[in-house]
Amino acid sequence: MKTAVVTGAARGIGLATTQLFLAEGWRVAMIDRDAPALTDAAQGLKNVHPILCDVSIPEQVSAMAAEVAKAFGRVDALVNNAGVADFRPLQDTDFATWREVMATNLDGVFLTSQAIIPQLKETRGAIVNIASISGLRASTLRVAYGTSKAAVIHLTRQQAAELGEWGVRANCVAPGPVDTKLALAVHSPAIRTAYHDAIPLNRYGTEREIAQTIVFLCSEKASYVTGQVIAADGGFDAVGVGLPALRGG
Ligand SMILES: NC(=O)c1ccc[n+]([C@@H]2O[C@H](COP(=O)([O-])OP(=O)(O)OC[C@H]3O[C@@H](n4cnc5c(N)ncnc54)[C@H](O)[C@@H]3O)[C@@H](O)[C@H]2O)c1
Repeated sequence: MKTAVVTGAARGIGLATTQLFLAEGWRVAMIDRDAPALTDAAQGLKNVHPILCDVSIPEQVSAMAAEVAKAFGRVDALVNNAGVADFRPLQDTDFATWREVMATNLDGVFLTSQAIIPQLKETRGAIVNIASISGLRASTLRVAYGTSKAAVIHLTRQQAAELGEWGVRANCVAPGPVDTKLALAVHSPAIRTAYHDAIPLNRYGTEREIAQTIVFLCSEKASYVTGQVIAADGGFDAVGVGLPALRGG
C-alpha cells in the first residue's frame, strides 16, 4: 500500500491532502506539532499514523522519520506542507519573527526532506513542497513569509536536480488564498477584497482544490514532472498586476 508523509496534517490544506490520499487508497503518516488538533484530526480516520513533531527541530524530525519507517516500512511521497504566516511591514519585522517564519517554512522543509529522502530513494518516490503565490510575486507585509516561500521554490529545484538520479521527483505547489485558519489570521477585510479583484476566477480556492494538485504531483500521472512549480491560484500569478477596470462583463 502506498504511503505518504504529510506535515501540518492536523488541519487546513494538510488535512484535506490526507483525506484525499486516503480516498485514493494510500496510507498517511500525519505530522503536526499541535497535539490536540492532531488527535482530533486523526480520530475516525483509517490507515493513518499520527506523529507529534515540530518540523523545525532536528531531533524531533529524526525521531519522526524513524517512527515512520517502523510503522509503515515504506514512503512513496513526502508533502512538506507545515507552514506559519506573519504579515507585517519590513521595519516592524524583528529578527525573532523572521527566524520563527524561516524555522518552520524553510528549515522545516530542508530537515524533513533530508530525513525522509533515504526512504524515498527506495521507492523512487516524490516530494511536494508547499510554497505560496507570495513566493512567486513580492508584495507588502511579507518580507519573512514571501522570502521563506521563494526559498522553498528554489530548494525544490535543488532537490529535483540532485534526486533525479534516484528516480525521486520534487515539485512545488504555490497556492493562492484559501480560507484556512492561517489565512483567517492574516487576511484583513481589505486584503480579501484586493485578492478578489486580482484573481481571474474571482474567489478564494478550497483546501480540496490545493490537495488535488498535490496528490496529482505525487501520483504516477506526474511521473515525468520534476522541478516544477504549479500555482493553484485562480490565475493570480498569470495576470501580474491586473487591472480590475479592464475586466470584461
Ligand atoms: N491558506 C492560504 O491562503 C495559503 C496560501 C498559500 C500558501 N499556503 C501554505 O499552505 C500550507 C498550509 O497552510 P494552511 O492554510 O492549511 O495552514 P493552517 O494554519 O490551517 O495549518 C497549518 C498546520 O501546520 C502545523 N504546523 C505549523 N508549524 C509547524 C511546525 N513547525 N511543525 C509541525 N507542524 C506545524 C499547524 O499546527 C497546523 O496544523 C502552509 O505552508 C502555508 O504557508 C496557505
